[in-house]
Amino acid sequence: MKEIYLAGGCFWGVEHYFRNIEGVVDTEVGFANGDALMPSPTYEQVYTDTTGYAETVRVIYNPEALPLDELLRCFFCAIDPLSLNKQGEDEGTRYRTGVYYTEHADLDTIRQVFDEVQSEYSKPLAVELLPLENFFTAEGRHQDYLVKNPDGYCHLPLKLFRYPRLVSDLRHLLGDEPDFVARMSNATALIKEEMGFFWVGFYLVGPSVPELVEGSESELILGPFQGSVACMRIGCGRGVCGTAWKEGRTVVVPDVEGFPGHIACSSLSKSEIVVPVFKENEVVAVLDIDSDELATFDPVDAFWLGRLVAVVSRS
Ligand code: SME
Repeated sequence: MKEIYLAGGCFWGVEHYFRNIEGVVDTEVGFANGDALMPSPTYEQVYTDTTGYAETVRVIYNPEALPLDELLRCFFCAIDPLSLNKQGEDEGTRYRTGVYYTEHADLDTIRQVFDEVQSEYSKPLAVELLPLENFFTAEGRHQDYLVKNPDGYCHLPLKLFRYPRLVSDLRHLLGDEPDFVARMSNATALIKEEMGFFWVGFYLVGPSVPELVEGSESELILGPFQGSVACMRIGCGRGVCGTAWKEGRTVVVPDVEGFPGHIACSSLSKSEIVVPVFKENEVVAVLDIDSDELATFDPVDAFWLGRLVAVVSRS
């Protein structure tokens, strides 16, 4: 087992997020990297924002089930990495973000993830990267706070707690089943059941029928889905699905009416996300999810659905 200390804003929500992620063995909330002359601070002292401590979660994890780079990507998905001393509505140096390590050997991996995340932004990251200097466990009432207080305050969106559970439930459900269609079928049922989206389905890359779609050798063909009837064939580069396939990237559409070439299977669909499914670096299918509300999907969905399709395709 290994450990890493993560400051991501109010530690109630951050702990609750990590304790739901597969590969995390234990979590503990406390105060890190503050004034050494003020050891063992109380929550109230840290709350004054004069102690230098950051609300921090000690994450104990199994690196074989969850390698450090993946754990850190999960962390970055739950913070605003550009925001200095503010996460959600919580403001102050105690809510700063940081990765504090205890093993120097982890530094290369941590730097690599920081560089990767930095390359997505034009402004510098506001996330500290430092060795752990000190850590004091917070009072018992703050441990597993959102388990004890399910309706308690949380700055994180609820879906950050639902996706990790969904991915873990799916891995257990699919087990070693080798058949891709069977895996996709139960994946659509579970996503629909746990997340309640309007339409969930896969389109598979397959041979085209020249009479139906001109000029290409392969196209997307409707696969296992849950929801109302849908179009059965989509050409490469066509609609949201064909774009995600052609470009090999997740496409988030906050308003389908604003996406040129969107293929409307149902007038009730308002926003959409399409995630490519890779096998050996090739797109073999796409996962398409539609919502009957505008702007349902954001980078949190993109990140966690990316992890989910990797479970389905076993890649
Ligand atoms: N809207 C998709 C087509 C599939 S349906 O949403 C189920 C698209 O534009 O590719």
